[in-house]
Amino acid sequence: MVAHQKPGSFRSSTMAAKNHLSLLLLLLLQLFYSGRGELQMNYYAKSCPKAEEIIKQQVADLYYEHGNTAVSWLRNLFHDCIVKSCDASLLLETVTGVESEKDSDRSFGMRNFKYVNKIKAAVERECPLTVSCADIVVLSAQYGIVMLKGPEIGLKTGRRDSKVSYSHLVEAFVPRHNESLVNVLSLFSSIGIDTEAAVALLGAHSVGRVHCVNLVERLYPSVDPTIDPEYAKYLKGRCPTPNPNPKAVLYSRNDRETPMILDNMYYSNILNHKGLLIVDQELTSNPLTLPYVTKFAADNQYFHAQFSRGIRLLSENNPLTGDEGEIRKDCRFVN
Ligand code: HEM
Ligand SMILES: *[C@@H]1O[C@H](CO)[C@@H](O)[C@H](O)[C@H]1NC(C)=O
Repeated sequence: MVAHQKPGSFRSSTMAAKNHLSLLLLLLLQLFYSGRGELQMNYYAKSCPKAEEIIKQQVADLYYEHGNTAVSWLRNLFHDCIVKSCDASLLLETVTGVESEKDSDRSFGMRNFKYVNKIKAAVERECPLTVSCADIVVLSAQYGIVMLKGPEIGLKTGRRDSKVSYSHLVEAFVPRHNESLVNVLSLFSSIGIDTEAAVALLGAHSVGRVHCVNLVERLYPSVDPTIDPEYAKYLKGRCPTPNPNPKAVLYSRNDRETPMILDNMYYSNILNHKGLLIVDQELTSNPLTLPYVTKFAADNQYFHAQFSRGIRLLSENNPLTGDEGEIRKDCRFVN
């Protein structure tokens, strides 16, 4: 356009300016009316101004009743967002023949789902059918992370809820307890999460627990040589038999030093050969990830900054927005 302009011609340059202006208007109109909305900060500012405050309060109240709810909100974010998108598909109940995501083997050990409904009910009382369960998954994790003394992240909202369960995708996207680090890194990379952010996200294993069924493979018949021998003794004490009853609540804490604090102790632990899962321990033997482990172990603030970046990327994976999906009334069922 500019190339065709006669130099010094006042008339043609105003025309060009007008053209640019209408182009801009067109772009703006497209942005606002395409029905394909975008995630944004405080999406509910007008439609439900108290939404975030209510969720924050509920998360705090639940934390003081049952501290491990905050841990659950963090794991929920991972399991919901990694499968297709953060769309609360995780929260759906099993219905006639379709096993729900949360009932799948890969969700073993997940807990506190009933309290999600308590948070949703409090939000529904204030603003019926306005705030999605998907945003409740994300915001409960955001505030849960703060209760665990992790970073204040500030995540976008405006997600909608899926109308279906993606249980058939769970096996492809939720890694097993014995998944290799290489596979986990390529899984994250497939949804736009780089290696450093992935290493930071695994720092979530600074809190919570692992059940013996997910540990014994590294203890029996022989101890995985990458586990510190003293620590292996401790773990065998926690998990005394090679075939634990999956129903028995035998487990070990992820981090014995600060089990309820989302800090960089996880990285010191794995540097000391005290990683519980294969994927945790492999972070220190893979040359691509070891430099990040060392950096995070030395600097909690830096770890928190990268953890925040990882959570933001994960939480923005492929959202349903605009008129896609729905706003569920009860997080356990499609409307
Ligand atoms: C990518 C590889 C990952 C694998 C293979 C993995 C696997 C596991 C396993 C096996 C457990 C123990 C379950 C049990 O026995 O009760 C667990 C717990 C946990 N995971 Fe992961 N996880 C991964 C990534 C993540 C990420 C990215 C997050 C969050 C950002 C996360 C958050 C948690 C939390 C908070 C727990 C503790 C749950 C509780 O105590 O209730 N995990 N994970
Ligand atoms: C991972 O664990 C499952 C069940 O615990 C087992 O069947 C499978 O063989 C293990 N995979 C590897 C690569 O060790």
